[in-house]
Amino acid sequence: MSLLSVLSNGELPLAVKVNDLSITYRTTFERKPTLKQALIRFGRGQRAVREVEAIKNISFDVRTGTAMGIIGSNGAGKSTLMRAMAGILPPTSGSIEVWGRASTLLALGVGFNKNLSGRENIVLGGLAAGLSRREVEERADEVAEWTELGDFIDMPMRTYSSGMSARVEFSVAVHMKPDILMIDEALSTGDAQFREKANAKMAELRDSARAMFLVSHGLGSIKQMCNEAIWLDKGKLMMRGKPGEVVNAYMKFVKVKKSAAAMEDI
Ligand SMILES: Nc1ncnc2c1ncn2[C@@H]1O[C@H](COP(=O)(O)OP(=O)(O)OP(=O)(O)O)[C@@H](O)[C@H]1O
Ligand SMILES: [Mg+2]
Repeated sequence: MSLLSVLSNGELPLAVKVNDLSITYRTTFERKPTLKQALIRFGRGQRAVREVEAIKNISFDVRTGTAMGIIGSNGAGKSTLMRAMAGILPPTSGSIEVWGRASTLLALGVGFNKNLSGRENIVLGGLAAGLSRREVEERADEVAEWTELGDFIDMPMRTYSSGMSARVEFSVAVHMKPDILMIDEALSTGDAQFREKANAKMAELRDSARAMFLVSHGLGSIKQMCNEAIWLDKGKLMMRGKPGEVVNAYMKFVKVKKSAAAMEDI
């Protein structure tokens, strides 16, 4: 932290600025006719378009030194927001500015080639992160070692359990030295021993990276690892604040929703 410049007004410089961001997925698909219709008409389904507004007019900025937790229900838009900040998804409207190099798509678990081994994917991950061939070669063995996967590291990743894949994903994310570290649920499938190791690594990196984003359903980790949090629901930014406060508000919301659903059942 001592190396960072402080602005004249005493504030730390920005690491990420998200301005009125909206992201809409547009998917075309073939509406399947019912079996009966299909038999009568031998028809093909009609083409239909479905739009999902995954992120709706979100704005926030993140200063250097922030470890930002992102929480919310399944489908709330957390991974979409992370992919947009990593530069993988273009905004439908609004803008995102990132100061420095963000984790790449491999670190977000969407770019692995399952037919290649863990070690080969680590090499690809390094190249995708912009490291030179030499840097990657120097670092790949260390990263592979860090996963503690033993002989499995040279087996195709399609033979891995989800926790084993998560180990490779996490290792790539933390060893490529991004300025903006992004971790999306990598810990959810890790076992207790790996989780502890990963938590220690994250704490170490949190202090050296410019900013960190952690998406997790483990609300305990959010409180433990982060100094700020945002809560998304159906693409909207519901709250930003201290992790404890945001987690409490989210839990209260989930409970209210659950009891409302229970009432409907009666
Ligand atoms: N590639 C895609 N194409 C179309 N729709 C998508 C795509 N990815 C996500 N969506 C939709 O966008 C919305 C937000 O999804 P997203 O993956 O960002 O949620 P999430 O908060 O990460 O959920 P989870 O906690 O389950 O990981 C969902 O309604 C989802 O169906
Ligand atoms: Mg997600």
